[in-house]
Amino acid sequence: MKILHTIQEVVQWRTTTIDRRGKTIGFVPTMGCLHNGHATLIKQSVNNNDFTAVSIFVNPSQFAPDEDLDQYPRTPDKDIELLESLNVDVLFAPSAKEMYPQGIPLDIDQQRGPFVSVLGVSEMLEGKTRPNFFRGVTTVVTKLFNIVMADNAYFGQKDIQQYIVLNVMVKELFVNTKLTMVPIVRNDSGLALSSRNKYLSAEYVTMASNIYRGLSLAQTTITDIIATGSSVNRDALLQQIKTVWEPYTATGDFKIDYISIADFYTLNELDTVGPNDKIVISCAVNVLDKISKNTVRLIDNIVM
Ligand code: PAJ
Repeated sequence: MKILHTIQEVVQWRTTTIDRRGKTIGFVPTMGCLHNGHATLIKQSVNNNDFTAVSIFVNPSQFAPDEDLDQYPRTPDKDIELLESLNVDVLFAPSAKEMYPQGIPLDIDQQRGPFVSVLGVSEMLEGKTRPNFFRGVTTVVTKLFNIVMADNAYFGQKDIQQYIVLNVMVKELFVNTKLTMVPIVRNDSGLALSSRNKYLSAEYVTMASNIYRGLSLAQTTITDIIATGSSVNRDALLQQIKTVWEPYTATGDFKIDYISIADFYTLNELDTVGPNDKIVISCAVNVLDKISKNTVRLIDNIVM
């Protein structure tokens, strides 16, 4: 595997090292600290393309001033070992200076220079608690796409809104990289894998799997009722999910940020779910771990 740090090196690899005629490049952007979720995306790229490039870049512009960029977990040696074992061709690990030559002032109002924004769909759900987060994501993904010029890029359903926002961006800006959404990878008890799970004690990892249990119950209800030809009421579904979480919200272990039952394409909230709707049930829950003393914000979703 080639480990490249500069844009020039990637352009050189793309234009001279590989013979592009009829060959495809798959690309998996990441922020490192790789786990099995990332590995699944990478395997799909390796299986479906002639070459695979992975980027590891902890993107400063998607962090808020109060979110500590320096605290983001970094495991470079382990990451490289995993990427080698998956037969990745290129790891692109640029510096912040390489990706943002003008720099990024931490104060968002002071920021200058070009950004890519997808208004609307990026302002809902995650966008409400994390303003400017998606602007950072769409900007860095545009930069990475322009450097790697991949045919295919792979994103996880885990960050469903990220995928939906990027999909709008790619369609409306005529980006020549095709996106593929890869299903969520979970642990044995159903908890979605995330680099943030390592901030939870074992006891709270077990407890956190109830997040998915709540969403799954709503999914089962929707499937059962739709099979009879009827529609399902939103409030009934929200109530079901909250009932599963109640033992943990009552003790202050879970603090619900949002539960959303929305149209898959627009993320507009739905009052009822009918047989023809493609929907996403999504949530963000703050888990207040009394053992590790960490508060960890977890997101999860089910698409149906
Ligand atoms: P990161 O959090 O490192 O995630 C990289 C990719 O891995 C994303 O597409 C994410 O959805 C996917 N992923 C993470 N956990 C997963 C799981 N349990 N199952 C399936 N896929 C999973 O997302 C980012 O980085 C950044 O925002 C990035 C797109 C790289 C832009 O900076």
